This record gives sequence, structure tokens and C-alpha cells, in this order.
Amino acid sequence: MSEGQNATADRKLVRVLDGESVFPPPIWLMRQAGRYLPEYRATRAEAGSFLDLCYNPELATEVTLQPIRRFGFDAAILFSDILVIPDALGRKVRFSEGHGPQLDPITTDEEIDRLRVDGAVERLAPVIETVGRIRAALPEEVTLLGFCGAPWTVATYMIAGEGTPDQAPARLFAYRNEAAFAKLMEKLVASSVDYLVAQLEAGADAVQVFDTWAGVLDEVSFRKWVIEPTRAIVDGVRAKVPGARIIGFPRGSGLLYTDFVAETGVNAVGMDWTVPREFARDRLQPNVAVQGNIDPLLMIEGGAALDASVDDLVEKLGRGRLIANLGHGITPQGRIENVERFIRRVRDARL
Ligand code: CP3
Repeated sequence: MSEGQNATADRKLVRVLDGESVFPPPIWLMRQAGRYLPEYRATRAEAGSFLDLCYNPELATEVTLQPIRRFGFDAAILFSDILVIPDALGRKVRFSEGHGPQLDPITTDEEIDRLRVDGAVERLAPVIETVGRIRAALPEEVTLLGFCGAPWTVATYMIAGEGTPDQAPARLFAYRNEAAFAKLMEKLVASSVDYLVAQLEAGADAVQVFDTWAGVLDEVSFRKWVIEPTRAIVDGVRAKVPGARIIGFPRGSGLLYTDFVAETGVNAVGMDWTVPREFARDRLQPNVAVQGNIDPLLMIEGGAALDASVDDLVEKLGRGRLIANLGHGITPQGRIENVERFIRRVRDARL
């Protein structure tokens, strides 16, 4: 990390990742820069395509800062996408309106052999430039998070060529052709390590590894394709940036959350909204900081249901290391007034 202890001492989320219980807990939201914000929609329209926005340091910095200005979150998250890695590896990514991401699906071993890890991070230079610009523009006390997709989740999109409900194409590919799939995972681990190291060196305080599709795997596959690659990323990043702070988000991992925490070496774990909070308090929080886990639909509904969920979160997890967040990203239908209500409720809470 390029900055000394003093610069990060005021950053609440950094303190939690470094081992302190902070109350009220720091707050940010997954997908906090996004279509639920009118100012995001305006900048997005100006940029052209979604990927043009990701690769435009000036506009990507602007949309990263928008939710910080509006809500005063404790952390900003780099505006980019997990699919810039496949793009940099030579699999062209397109985002068409209303259809989500599209790539040419990987069907053969040769296509995996041809992925170009060398130079991938250099091809992502605009994203790394964005990290430095965000840090320079952010208030001193706001934590800056970088991120990447976890190899498993990124691979699911590379193999299917699009989002699917259960990632059957990648699961079938990994059963049928395990050696080729392992090679794909190795290339994703190597490029993710380089990419995260570059983000940390450019000024990110910590990084999050998004494994949105961890929850579709059986136990044996979960160990192979979620725990092992995440551990390899954690080790690889810390070999180059000693003490690097890393948040894992293995969405939907159920009972396997405990092994994920014990075996990957992450500093914090993002919990989806189905993770029971007493289980989190007893089995996860003694070992790591926990992040989450309000149902994102409560950003649509708000009201008493939101208040009750926030109170329950604080009551069960507020005494230990907690980062208040949702259990997954806020949706385009999320309402600004409910985000404000969430933040106020957390900051006014008493133990
Ligand atoms: O959290 C943030 O505010 C930072 C930016 C961020 C985006 N995507 C911006 C985005 C982050 C961290 C991501 C991660 C991401 N991208 C994940 C993992 C987390 C998750 O939400 O599950 C995944 C699986 C992707 C892949 C992806 N990108 C999909 C499936 C889609 C389409 C679905 C959708 O919401 O439209 C995207 C597009 C995307 N990434 C948008 C944003 C703001 C919306 C596109 C737009 O603005 O037109």
C-alpha cells in the first residue's frame, strides 16, 4: 500500500478489516453506483456503452464518487465490472441493453490455451488509472475498495457466454473436461492476482473478490473451484503486497461459509441474506469481519420491514466486527429514500 498508517487510521472500514470492532459499523452497498441513481443514468448515457464507461477514467471516477456525495458511505468501490478480465484475456465482452453481458462461449481446450495472461493488466490500464483518480478525489476518511470477480464466477460467464440461472454450462464443462477447466481457472487466478496487486498499488485500501455463483456447486466442486482458487489469489496478492486486505463474497455458500473463512485467509466475508446471523456471530465473526446481509429487496420495500432487519443485524452482529451492507447488489428498482433510511437506522443504532 502506497500510504502510511496515518492516512488510513481514520478509515473505519480499514480498521474493521484490521481487527477492530467499530460501532456504529461502517456502511457501503454492493452496486452502490448503478441504475437506481438518476445521476448514474445520466453519466452512463453520456459514456455510450457500459464498457466505454468502465474504460473511461474520468467518467468511471465520476460514477464511483456519486453515491459517496449523495449518501456519505464509508467506502467507495471502484466502478468497473468483473468481466473486464475476460475482455483483457481476449474474449470480447458486450453488454447489450436489457440483455446483460454477452461473450463468445468457450467450447474447446484450444480457446483456453489461447487466453493471453501476459499483458492482460496492461490492457486494463484505464481501470488502474481510475483507481488513482478516485483516491485523489475521495475524502481522506473514505475507504477505497478495488475488486475482481472470483475465477469460478468469471468462468461461468466465459463458458456460457451469458448469465444463466444455475450455471449448468460451466458445471457440465468442469465435470466433462476437468483438466481444461483447471487450466482456465489457473489463468484466471494469475490475471486476477496481477489485477488486484495493480489496484492496491494504485491506492485501493482493500479488495473484494465477488463469487456470485459459489452457491451452485456441490461440496467437492466448491473446494476445487471456490476455496482453492480464492486461497491462491489471497496468497498470490499477499506475496506481492504483504498484509493486503481482502474481502471474500462466496454468495449462497450455506454451511460451507465456515470452511471458506477458515481456509482462504480472507480478512472479511460478505454474507448473502440467507446466512443466519446467530450462525455468523458464533461461527464466522470470531475469525473474520462479517459484511452484509440485508435483503436487497428491502431497498425496494423499505418501511418497518427494513427497520426490523437493520435492528436485527445490529443486535446480533453489532458487538463484533461488522460492515453493514446488503446480501447482494442493490437493484435498479431500489429506492433512494430507503438507502437513506438504512444508513440513518445503522448510524442511530444503540447496542
Ligand atoms: O458495486 C459497484 O457499484 C461497483 C461496480 C460493479 C458493477 N458490477 C457495475 C455494473 C461491480 C462490483 C460489479 C460486479 C459484477 N458484475 C458481478 C458480481 C457481483 C454481482 O452483482 O453479482 C457480476 C456477476 C457482474 C456481471 C454483470 N455485470 C452482469 C450479470 C451485469 C448485468 C446485470 C445487470 O445488473 O444489468 C452487469 C452489468 C453491470 N455491472 C451494471 C453495473 C452498474 C449495469 C449495466 C448498466 O449500467 O447498463
